[in-house]
Amino acid sequence: MAKPVKKEPRQVETTGHSWDGIEEYNNPLPRWWVWVFYATIVWGIGYTIAYPAWPLITQATPGLLGASTRADVAVEIAAVDKANAAIKEKLVAADLNGIGADPELAGFAERAGAAVFRTNCTTCHGSGAAGFEGKGYPNLLDDDWLWGGTMEDIHLTITHGIRNTTDADARYSEMPKFGLDGILDETQIAQVSEHVLAISGQDNDAALAAEGATLYAENCAACHLEDGSGDRAQGAPKLTDAIWLYGGSRDKIIETVTKARFGVMPNWNERLSEDEIRAVAYYVHSRGGGE
Ligand code: HEC
Ligand code: HEC
Repeated sequence: MAKPVKKEPRQVETTGHSWDGIEEYNNPLPRWWVWVFYATIVWGIGYTIAYPAWPLITQATPGLLGASTRADVAVEIAAVDKANAAIKEKLVAADLNGIGADPELAGFAERAGAAVFRTNCTTCHGSGAAGFEGKGYPNLLDDDWLWGGTMEDIHLTITHGIRNTTDADARYSEMPKFGLDGILDETQIAQVSEHVLAISGQDNDAALAAEGATLYAENCAACHLEDGSGDRAQGAPKLTDAIWLYGGSRDKIIETVTKARFGVMPNWNERLSEDEIRAVAYYVHSRGGGE
């Protein structure tokens, strides 16, 4: 009687492990896989010899090929600097008011100035140079200038800064702290602030404002001028328009008169080169409000 043919299991070596009758084959790794594996090891060793690889205390092993992305960037920067050297020299030598008349110079100043502005000025003046109204950071796009809007004025403001302690030539002025220093009492401050509301065309209490007009003439006109039009020689803002450095509401004006403000801008002559200062001055001047 013929026995039923029983299929023999594949004759392969097993690892000898068995779980519930399930055994594990001990197949060799595919040849191609093993070669790729060895190839990656060889590649890895070669790479660590040729390129920067092992971290040491201050830097990684440099590698035989001397590859360095930092050095590549330095080379690129040097090339750009070299290409721009002539035009930068021309920018530094140019008459401040003549930059706009030379299309090549103006184009360069515009682009370089925009880059300088993005890197150094946007934190305080906003990415579009519109400032942060009410926080003391002026809008540089309008034609309302604290210290003046000509190329010379803007160039000087940027070079030396405002009320900083790092440049003796910084623009400087200080409004008295009328409340804190007891120059005016609370009633007087309310009156003079009401006058400021009146001259800036806002709702006000006419009786209070009339009292305030006299106080204004005595205490404020020396800097903000009789009619409130401001004095650029002292960086005293115009008080008759709707543009406010620190806010034009009754509360904000009272706060300003009580405590005074002291807006500070760093001097840029230590951080930027003359061509960069000129470029960014041109950029600010050409934004719309330049005079
Ligand atoms: C740390 C903040 C800060 C940075 C950064 C800064 N500024 Fe200013 N800037 C100010 C303040 C505050 C004022 C207003 C000071 C005052 O009240 O008189 C000002 C005023 C100015 C003015 C005068 C405006 C006017 O109406 O007369 C110009 C121009 C100016 N900044 C340009 C720049 C440029 C260009 C840069 C970048 C290179 C820059 N600022 C970076 C804070 C800053
Ligand atoms: C010594 C000059 C001086 C005198 C006097 C003075 N101010 Fe000022 N005032 C300034 C300056 C400078 C600023 C700008 C301060 C800054 O930018 O940080 C200013 C700012 C202001 C502002 C803020 C304007 C804004 O746009 O937010 C108001 C309001 C103001 N002064 C009102 C007065 C009143 C009212 C008096 C009189 C009681 C007075 N000031 C007296 C110099 C003066």
